Amino acid sequence: MNNDLSAKPSVVYHLLRQAVFEQSLIFMQGVLGKKGTLIDLGAGHCAFSRMAHAMGWKATALDVRKERVPDLPGEIGFIHGDINSMVWNPADYDVILCLGVYYHLDQNMQHRLLERCKGKPIIIDTHIANPPGMPTRYGRMLGETYEKNGEWGADYKEAPHLDDKARKETGLLASYDNPTSWWQTKDSLLQTLHQYGWPHVWTFDYDGLDFVQRTFFVCNTVDQSGTGLSGIRI
Ligand SMILES: C[S@@+](CC[C@H](N)C(=O)[O-])C[C@H]1O[C@@H](n2cnc3c(N)ncnc32)[C@H](O)[C@@H]1O
Repeated sequence: MNNDLSAKPSVVYHLLRQAVFEQSLIFMQGVLGKKGTLIDLGAGHCAFSRMAHAMGWKATALDVRKERVPDLPGEIGFIHGDINSMVWNPADYDVILCLGVYYHLDQNMQHRLLERCKGKPIIIDTHIANPPGMPTRYGRMLGETYEKNGEWGADYKEAPHLDDKARKETGLLASYDNPTSWWQTKDSLLQTLHQYGWPHVWTFDYDGLDFVQRTFFVCNTVDQSGTGLSGIRI
C-alpha cells in the first residue's frame, strides 16, 4: 500500500472496487433469492449499471448530469434527475445502489435518502472521515472531524475552485446543489444505518483503510449469519 498522501488511487484499487461490487451483488442475490431490479444512483459513467446488467439484473441508472453517460443497451434504463427529488421511487426496485455518491450529499440529504429507502437492501460505497486526530489524505478539502446532530464526521468542500454554477455545469464528479458534503466516520455511519433500519450491515475494508478513507456498506434487514452468505470471498 502506497501511503504517500498525495498519491492517486491505483488501478488495483479501482479493480478491487469493481470486484467488491460484484461480490456485494452476489450477496444480495443470495438475500433476495433472485436477481431483481436495481437503481444505480449517481451512476456517472454507468459502469456499475452495465456490470449489473451483465450479471442478469434489470438495471436503471440515475444521474443529475448526462455528460458521462455512454450509449446504453436498451435494457438499461436511465433517469435524468436528482437523487433528492421524487423522479425515482425506491419501492420500484429490489436493491438500491449508492456508489460513489453518498459522500457528495449533505447530512440532510443523506438522512432523507435513508428515510426513503428504509428497509430496502442498499449497497453504499462511500468515503469516510478518519476519527479525530488521525491524518487525512484530503487536505483542506476535508475539515476536522466533529459531532454534528449526533453523528461524527467532517465537512467536505466540493470542487472548492468552482463557484456553484461552474460546479453544476463542469464539476462532473461533484455534488450538485450542495457546496459542502458530509463524510461520517465508519463507526458513526454504521450507527446511523442501524438507526434507519438496517441491523445487518457488512463492510469491506480496503487494505490501508485509514489511507483510502473509503469502504462498502452492504445493508439489509435479513440476518445472514451462519448461512455462509455474509462476508466476502476475495
Ligand atoms: C464520483 S461520481 C460516481 C460515479 C459512479 N457511481 C462511481 O461510483 O464510479 C458521482 C456522480 O454522482 C452524480 N451526482 C452528484 N450529486 C447528485 C445528485 N444530487 N443527484 C444525482 N446525481 C448526482 C454526479 O453527477 C456524478 O456522476
